[in-house]
Amino acid sequence: MTGAGSFRHLGRHMDLFGKVNKVLIITLPSIRSQGLLDEIVNLLSQQGIHTTAITGVMREPTADNIQQLAAEISGEDFDAYIGIGGGSVLDATKLLAVLKTNSLDIEDMLGTDRIPNAGIPTVLIPTTSGTGSEVTPNAIVTLPKKELKIGAVSRHLLPGLTIVDPLLTLELPKPMTAATGMDAFTHALESYISNKANRVSDMFALQAIRNIANGIVEAYHHGQSVVAREEMIMGSMYAGMALTAAGTAAVHAMAYPLGGKFNIPHGVANSMLLPHVTEFNIDRITDRLADIAEAMGLGGSRAFGSVSAAESVIGKIMEWTKELGIPQDLTAFGVTEKDIPELAAAASNVRRLMDNNPKEMEIEDIERVYRKLLPSKQ
Ligand SMILES: NC(=O)c1ccc[n+]([C@@H]2O[C@H](COP(=O)([O-])OP(=O)(O)OC[C@H]3O[C@@H](n4cnc5c(N)ncnc54)[C@H](O)[C@@H]3O)[C@@H](O)[C@H]2O)c1
Ligand SMILES: [Fe+2]
Repeated sequence: MTGAGSFRHLGRHMDLFGKVNKVLIITLPSIRSQGLLDEIVNLLSQQGIHTTAITGVMREPTADNIQQLAAEISGEDFDAYIGIGGGSVLDATKLLAVLKTNSLDIEDMLGTDRIPNAGIPTVLIPTTSGTGSEVTPNAIVTLPKKELKIGAVSRHLLPGLTIVDPLLTLELPKPMTAATGMDAFTHALESYISNKANRVSDMFALQAIRNIANGIVEAYHHGQSVVAREEMIMGSMYAGMALTAAGTAAVHAMAYPLGGKFNIPHGVANSMLLPHVTEFNIDRITDRLADIAEAMGLGGSRAFGSVSAAESVIGKIMEWTKELGIPQDLTAFGVTEKDIPELAAAASNVRRLMDNNPKEMEIEDIERVYRKLLPSKQ
């Protein structure tokens, strides 16, 4: 379900899952304080559905955090889990649902197709625009001991119902609007240039790019604009569909160690890397970038010279990151020159995503891109 106010139809759609008496809501303290949780609890109680709410998912959760939440709720059975939050909460909801029905730890589930049983039915309601997690079969966790972020990919992580409502994002603070919006844009761009891109992913990726290019600056400056927020949340969802069909690539592979080792928020890491990785790839994807330029409304297209159109995409991304206040310097997060080889080795190991990149990245290429974000090393 999509559209402004669509979350108010949640109660009457719960019969999708048969007779539902009791649900677990996994959400954020800020959704509770905005009064949205009370509204949702009331909607459900009007349908005779009892609710329990938990708000203990940490930002970019560790496997231990989710495992601990699973232990806390293990004594009770629920008919469905409803996740209302950013990608962190949605990913946690998906994993909690399958932890309940599989005798596995999260670490056993990481990788592709390693979850044998379907989980408790889930409803996923994003409050960032964002990860697109509400429509992807992925869930990402942080493994602090390994200083890594890593994903589980399984059809059993797809939700039973998704509600995409811009009203839930109106209070999203500016830095999160910027970072999560750039994450969504990165999903769309990387899906369009991925080795696995196809006609289905292309359609969703270009539509996502149009939506996000229309909305991102306006949503940042005027957070209460329902029109801009709607562009962003729809763009984020389409980008999630694109990445499900095509996969992301080197930007995401290089962002994971920055999140795992230095806690750089996922969207910030992607946003910093995106122009530089795109520049590295440019000779392999010039025509594709020209299509993206056209979708972004930059006036370029294959017909009018792909090279300048491709360069205009990189220029626009740089312009956005400045306007949206996204840092361009990894030293601000404690990264130094001596960390670069280890970061590059970790990124190179994320084969699931690196193999989607249109141009092979050797370790030295990865190091060179990271160094572009250490200003003194340029
Ligand atoms: N499953 C996927 O397909 C997928 C794709 C990309 C990223 N991810 C993962 O998702 C996580 C990041 O998710 P995210 O970027 O949505 O951010 P997030 O969920 O970590 O939220 C960022 C911050 O915004 C706050 N917040 C969220 N919604 C709010 C609202 N409406 N009002 C006020 N504050 C709000 C949160 O409390 C948090 O502090 C990472 O772990 C990333 O790796 C998953
Ligand atoms: Fe992402």
